[in-house]
Parts: sequence; C-alpha cells; structure tokens
Amino acid sequence: MESVDLLYVHWPTDAYDPGDTLPAFDEVRDRGWTDHVGVSNFDRDLLADAQEVLDAPIVANQIEMHPLLPPTGAMLSYCANHDVAPVAYSPLCRGDALELDEVVAVAEKHDLSPARVLIAWLADQSVPVVTKASGTDHIEDTLAGLDLELDDEDRARIDGVERRYRRFDRDGSPWN
Ligand SMILES: NC(=O)c1ccc[n+]([C@@H]2O[C@H](COP(=O)([O-])OP(=O)(O)OC[C@H]3O[C@@H](n4cnc5c(N)ncnc54)[C@H](OP(=O)(O)O)[C@@H]3O)[C@@H](O)[C@H]2O)c1
Repeated sequence: MESVDLLYVHWPTDAYDPGDTLPAFDEVRDRGWTDHVGVSNFDRDLLADAQEVLDAPIVANQIEMHPLLPPTGAMLSYCANHDVAPVAYSPLCRGDALELDEVVAVAEKHDLSPARVLIAWLADQSVPVVTKASGTDHIEDTLAGLDLELDDEDRARIDGVERRYRRFDRDGSPWN
C-alpha cells in the first residue's frame, strides 16, 4: 500500500503535542502517504486548536457513540459547522448495546437485528460509523442497517435510554 485514505491522530494523550504531532501529519499528507487527516477522541477545544495548527482540513473526529453514550448536539453542530464528520466508533458498544431493552423492542417491531437498529439510529443523525465484525454474516447484517428508516416512535424510544456508559476512557475523556 502506497497511501491511505485517512490517517487519524488516535488519542490526545500526554504524548500528543499539537506543535509536533500536527505538522508531522501535514508532512505525511504532503508526501502523498495519506489523502486526508482526521483526529479521534478530541473534544471541541482540542479540535479547534488542532484546526488552527494544521494546514490540512480535519475531515473526521472519531469518537465513541451509541445509545449509552449518545452524540451531543454541541459536538454534532460543531462538526457540522466546520465540515468535520463525527465518526462513531464502537457503535454497538462492543455488543453491550445490542441487549438494551429499547433497542431490542425497536428491532422486534421491524423484525430486524438490534445491530441494524443501532447503525440506523446513528445514520439517522448523519453520523457515519466504524464497527468491527469477525465474519461476513455480521458485516452484511450491520451494513443493512443503512437501509432501515426509523420513525419518531423508534427515535424517542432509543433516545430514552437513560443509562450512561463510556467503554473507552483515558484521562476522563472529555469530548462532548
Ligand atoms: N478511535 C478509538 O479510540 C477507537 C476505540 C475503540 C474502537 N475503535 C474502532 O471502532 C471499531 C469497532 O469498535 P469495537 O470493536 O470496539 O466495537 P463494535 O463494533 O461496537 O462491536 C464489535 C462487537 O460486536 C459484534 N458484532 C458486530 N456486528 C454484529 C452484528 N451484526 N450482530 C451482532 N453482533 C455484532 C462483534 O462480534 P464478532 O466479532 O463476532 O463479529 C464484536 O464482538 C474498530 O474499527 C476500532 O478500530 C476506535
């Protein structure tokens, strides 16, 4: 492989220094090794700071999103206003969200799998997803979620999940 479509700054840990990290990403893009630059697990302040330093546009911020950790309006509107795609990782919450009563109820109503409902719920909010599956059966099932259109009752039911759970947490992971 000579280049990738999109290279992410994975997590703003202590090793992340915008003045060092981001120019290196610009250089990688200038050399043609990546077409685009993204970030992951950035809150709005970190995102705004990175946009100041980077020459390349930030095309995506990949963050954990599912009904137990729903996307906030503030993050979605920031992304919409700055042409950054808010990409959801772990959209199934590594399987935990498949068992939520609200998700199962919507799945039973449409006679579809809970995974499809979870993907449809994010797609409905214009959020692209990266999920993971070990075999083609799960990949095909999950992809088919893009064809499911939720109605207001479905949305209200899933938005009504009150429990909060962040599966991936480092240093308080403040994005919102
Ligand atoms: N940027 C970050 O900090 C970060 C952090 C974590 C993850 N990620 C990325 O997010 C992506 C996915 O995250 P993830 O693996 O944590 O969680 P996930 O996609 O929410 O869940 C994966 C789990 O769900 C199961 N599954 C997948 N499709 C299914 C279906 N249709 N029906 C039933 N079960 C299904 C998989 O089982 P099988 O394996 O049996 O198919 C696997 O156990 C990965 O690409 C990862 O790189 C990014």
